[in-house]
Parts: sequence; C-alpha cells; structure tokens
Amino acid sequence: MVASKVPLLTPYKMGRFNLSHRFPAQGKVPVSSTDQPLTPQISANGIDEDQFTPPRKLRTEEISEVVKDFKIAARNAIDAGFDGVEIHGAHGYLIDQFMKDQVNDRTDEYGGSLENRCRFALEVVEAVVNEVGADRVGFRLSPFANYMESGDSNPKALGLYMVKSLNKYGILYCHMIEPRMKKLGEKHETPDSLQPMKDAFKGTFMAAGGYDREEGNKALVNNHADLVAYGRWFLANPDLPRRFELNAPLNKYNRDTSTSLILLLVTLITHFLNLVLSIPTKSIRYHLVK
Ligand SMILES: Cc1cc2nc3c(=O)[nH]c(=O)nc-3n(C[C@H](O)[C@H](O)[C@H](O)COP(=O)(O)O)c2cc1C
Repeated sequence: MVASKVPLLTPYKMGRFNLSHRFPAQGKVPVSSTDQPLTPQISANGIDEDQFTPPRKLRTEEISEVVKDFKIAARNAIDAGFDGVEIHGAHGYLIDQFMKDQVNDRTDEYGGSLENRCRFALEVVEAVVNEVGADRVGFRLSPFANYMESGDSNPKALGLYMVKSLNKYGILYCHMIEPRMKKLGEKHETPDSLQPMKDAFKGTFMAAGGYDREEGNKALVNNHADLVAYGRWFLANPDLPRRFELNAPLNKYNRDTSTSLILLLVTLITHFLNLVLSIPTKSIRYHLVK
C-alpha cells in the first residue's frame, strides 16, 4: 500500500468544556449531557482562572441532530481529502460527558445505566461508520481520566463496554489514554491498566499518555498496545520517529511554546495512521523496537 500524505481529522464538539478560543459558536450556550456548570479552573499559566458558561442540557429529541453533525463533519473531512476521522470520546468533551457518570445526570435513555450513557457515543460511531466506512474511523477514549470534572465511578467497566461495542462496528483502531494520566500532563502511580481493553479489542489498539521511547517499545513487545501515540514529545520534536530510530537526544517539551491542541492531535494521529495504513503492524513493531 502507498503511504498516505493526507492527515486525519478529529471532528468533535466541546460540550460544557467551552474554552472560548476553541468553541466555534461564540456567544452561544454550550450544550452537554447536564446543565451542571464546571467549577472555575486554574488555567495553564497557573495564575488565571478559567470561567465556563453554564451548559444547556440537550433535550432527548435534539441528540439525533448532534449525531448528524458528527456524520456531516466526517463526510466533509473525507471530501476535503482526509484519510479518516478519529471520533473524540475522551478528556471531557461532549461524548465523554455523556459516557461518564460524574457528568451525565440524565434520566432519559441517554443517562443512568452504562448502556444508556454509551448510547450517544455508539450512535455517533454508527452514523460515521455508515457515512465514511469503518476502515476510516478511529475512536479516542479516556475512561480513567477525570479531566474537566469528567470522571467515572467504574472506568474499567466503561472501557471494556466501549471496546466490546466498538468491535461490532469493525472500526480501524481504538486510541486509549493510560490510567496514569488522570489529568492533562500529570502522571500518577496507579494499579489500573489498559490491558483488559487491549485484550478485548479486535482492531488496532493505540495507547497514549506519559510514554518515552523505551516504555513505548516495551509496550509493543509486551503486547500492551499495537501502536503508541506521543503528544508532548512530538510537539517538541517534530522529527520524533527519526530521533527514536537513531536514539538521538530529544528537545524538552515547553508548555509556553506549545502549539494548539488541534495541531497536537492532528500531528500525532496523522503520523500513526499513516503507519497503520501503509505498513503492516509487525513491521511497525520491528521499526520501533530495533
Ligand atoms: C497542549 C496540549 C493540549 C492537549 N489537548 C488535548 C485535547 O484537546 N484533547 C485530547 O484528547 N487530548 C489533549 N491533550 C492530550 C494529548 O493528546 C495526550 O493524550 C497527552 O499529552 C498524553 O500524551 P503524552 O504524555 O505523550 O504527551 C493535550 C496535550 C497537550 C500537551
């Protein structure tokens, strides 16, 4: 297969986590699985406080329209020349707000039981898969994270339920954040592991969160993941794969000079999906481990 040069797009909705520079509909009230507001958070500079507009809880009959938005976004991405889309079901964004019981306080068929809370996510998957094909779709999940007050009381059950459900759609890959990354950029000791999710998922399993070269190689050798995604190392080292190959020194990550999250996600997803599309997994392992 010929290596693709066209990147992947992550269509997502922010939900109540409406950082103003990322929220597309300025001045509009963000929508969510809840109408509970986020408590103000200390921003990345450690000084300012980010304030969040209280969200509006989506009415049941509005949800199919939001599902349609994801479908249209995926179609637009493919028509614009992207290779595929990664559905963003992680880190406190809208889909995550539906899945996590700390945020979802609904009493309709989109709230309450695990199955109900995952309904919206799976409706989005089904719609996007039907629109662009399962081989162009990935899904990002962070069941163990509680970023932006989006946590769950039983993350392992959530992660397992989602990967087993994703199996039914035959999507290309599942991209999951390590339990040690409860919050962005903070690494915690934890007995939890992604291994049960990796073992249950039938497609390509990508792990992310707090990896360096050595640990990434170990994860592949130990069958903990099929692919490892790098965020901050990639930001600081755009030629990261080459540096890993040569075991060359790395630039240190500097939050103050980091580019936007979109650039980050597009970079890391692009790189790894190009590998998935162009090189068999065994070769990837060899390439990374040698
Ligand atoms: C500046 C910055 C912005 C980020 N924004 C997002 C985001 O919007 N959505 C998301 O799912 N992850 C986001 N992340 C998390 C990364 O995608 C990645 O999961 C995380 O950095 C852990 O990987 P790493 O330890 O290799 O950096 C962000 C990370 C950084 C450093």
